[in-house]
Amino acid sequence: MKATIYHVARRARVSTATVSRFLNGTGPVAAETRHRIEQAIQVLGYRPNTVARSLVTKATHTLALLMPDITNPFFPDLVKGVQLLADERGYTVLLCSVAGDPAREEEYLEMLSAKQVDGALLVGLVCGRETIARFARHGIPIVSLDRNIDYPPAPLVHVNHRKGARIATEHLLQLGHRLVAHVSGPIGLRVSHERLAGYREALSRAGVAYDRRLVVSGDFTEEAGYEGIEALLHTATPFTAIFAANDLAAIGATAALTDSGRRVPEDVSVVGFDDIRLAAYTSPALTTIRQPTYEMGRRATELLIDAVHGRMLGPGQQVVFEGELIVRASSMPIAAAQQAKTV
Ligand code: RIB
Repeated sequence: MKATIYHVARRARVSTATVSRFLNGTGPVAAETRHRIEQAIQVLGYRPNTVARSLVTKATHTLALLMPDITNPFFPDLVKGVQLLADERGYTVLLCSVAGDPAREEEYLEMLSAKQVDGALLVGLVCGRETIARFARHGIPIVSLDRNIDYPPAPLVHVNHRKGARIATEHLLQLGHRLVAHVSGPIGLRVSHERLAGYREALSRAGVAYDRRLVVSGDFTEEAGYEGIEALLHTATPFTAIFAANDLAAIGATAALTDSGRRVPEDVSVVGFDDIRLAAYTSPALTTIRQPTYEMGRRATELLIDAVHGRMLGPGQQVVFEGELIVRASSMPIAAAQQAKTV
């Protein structure tokens, strides 16, 4: 039998009016009561009648998620976090892949305004501030996720990119490496600048001079990681370790090293950033910085739904998660690496 609002109310030991207030955000609901209602919805598999509800509340209970690149394996866990939280709260998610194209982003934002979505999660849009402001002027709450956007009032949920990069580089320095190369992210993104800054900060704290020749441009793809390190090898600039701005670049860099006859980690240690699922299964398994990707997706969606119900974070407020160093076989102490080479 299809669960109704009455079943939810009875199981949560509240009135149907309280359940309706929770679902439609038309008034306060105590945290403990919210938890009981969420539990009842989940256990009963309750699905609100969205058409009937939108006629009453003018809410569509639909959230938009705009993201740059659905082919990057970092994003599925982010989407999963968004989707599951939205599902628990009775919201549908419209996933829009905008591929870092400002014209496409503007087109989608106009379409979403027309569809009257209740809120939007924006991951790294590259369109200008006025485009986003025009969308926001429709009264649609916005939360920025993972990568910042050019719209200061939007709250931002992300990992501490700079600190994660610093920890990754410090890991290599603590292994005795002093010639540490860096494959950067896309130069236009603040995320890339923050990770480069973390890399430079670690070098500076260790008294290691920053050598511009050891930084190669990447774009978060395997191809750019491969080509960047292949080019660096041809310059004969010595290095014994690489910190790559994401795991895909680290995987590409590793392929370039092995194709040139070098071994990872015996000749060159490699560290990435993200901890995508594949990172534990590459050969050698990749040392990296784990992002709490699923949790960030959930938290951003929670903030957005709160905003839809009028409980806004302060303008531009940030929720910063910490990355975690995951040490695997792709990095080793330089001394041991030298011994391994002489065996
Ligand atoms: O791998 C893709 C990168 O872009 C990740 O590091 C994530 O932070 C996203 O911004």
